[in-house]
Amino acid sequence: MRAIRYHDNGSADVLKLEEIAVPEPGADEVLVRVRAAGVNPVDWKQRSGMNPNLPATPGIDVSGLVEKVGAGVHGFEAGQEVWGTGQGTYAEYAIAPANSLVPKPANMSFEEGASFGVGVRTAWVALFESAILESGQTILVQGAAGGVGMWGVQLAKWKGATVIGTASSGNIDFINSLGVDVAVDYTNTPIETVAKDVDFVLDTVGGAVQVQSWQTLKRGGTLVTIVGDPDQEQAEKHGVTAIRVGRPTDSVKIFDTVNELFAAGGAKPLVQKVFPLDQAKQAHELSETTHGRGRIVLSVSG
Ligand SMILES: NC(=O)c1ccc[n+]([C@@H]2O[C@H](COP(=O)([O-])OP(=O)(O)OC[C@H]3O[C@@H](n4cnc5c(N)ncnc54)[C@H](OP(=O)(O)O)[C@@H]3O)[C@@H](O)[C@H]2O)c1
Repeated sequence: MRAIRYHDNGSADVLKLEEIAVPEPGADEVLVRVRAAGVNPVDWKQRSGMNPNLPATPGIDVSGLVEKVGAGVHGFEAGQEVWGTGQGTYAEYAIAPANSLVPKPANMSFEEGASFGVGVRTAWVALFESAILESGQTILVQGAAGGVGMWGVQLAKWKGATVIGTASSGNIDFINSLGVDVAVDYTNTPIETVAKDVDFVLDTVGGAVQVQSWQTLKRGGTLVTIVGDPDQEQAEKHGVTAIRVGRPTDSVKIFDTVNELFAAGGAKPLVQKVFPLDQAKQAHELSETTHGRGRIVLSVSG
């Protein structure tokens, strides 16, 4: 099969299209014939140096058709259209654990299906598992246009929260379309002049953005960050709880709920740009600008 691989860590230039063997699913795994793969920042972070297991095929987010199931897998059959998360998804075939795949609705494109996985799951865990966002609370989503932030906005609105979102000028229309109550252009408005006494901050950016976030929270509020460990000293100083996002406990439950929301029009995916598989390098270079709008996707010809 054709697959993107890298044999050394480095710039996007290390990504090569190669012919490799089709993997075999283990007992609890599904072999997916990939139609589209989402491009996440972790893919290029691993390529740049985080991944010690070489050679490697990048890719977690996937959608495609079930090709084969492991002996212990029930509920999936060959030919079924699915989306979810797996490993090595920048390829014609990829392995996914059966407990991280769900059926793809007929009116969801493969590109859309490949755009949800890591983004929506991370936002869900941040809002409803690592901490609990409640109806009627106010949340500030830092980085509201990104592949995680866009789900932070939509899930918080679904929960009944008031949402303040930050983005650069070119993404303000987009975050308004997601339903934010207040859109703040961080290039010309310091967030702490608009967001005051919020209950919850979802920090998808970190660094200086996290530093600004402390003063937007009310005492007793909560900041969940998805980029490393939060600054506990600052949290204590501001009388707030700071949490690093945890790992999901039940991906299928989350993804099934996303399918229900999608059917009801309450979960709108956004595919920023589709690249063919052999342009994974260009896709990584675009993602590495860190100014994503929705999710970049690789299309794998059927
Ligand atoms: N721990 C975990 O489990 C986990 C899971 C998923 C992702 N992550 C990490 O979380 C980060 C975000 O992931 P992602 O998939 O959402 O990335 P992404 O799709 O590339 O989005 C990044 C977003 O950050 C925004 N941004 C950049 N600078 C900003 C600023 N100063 N203020 C406000 N927004 C700003 C960009 O919006 P503009 O273009 O409008 O600036 C862009 O929409 C990455 O570092 C990723 O590795 C961690």
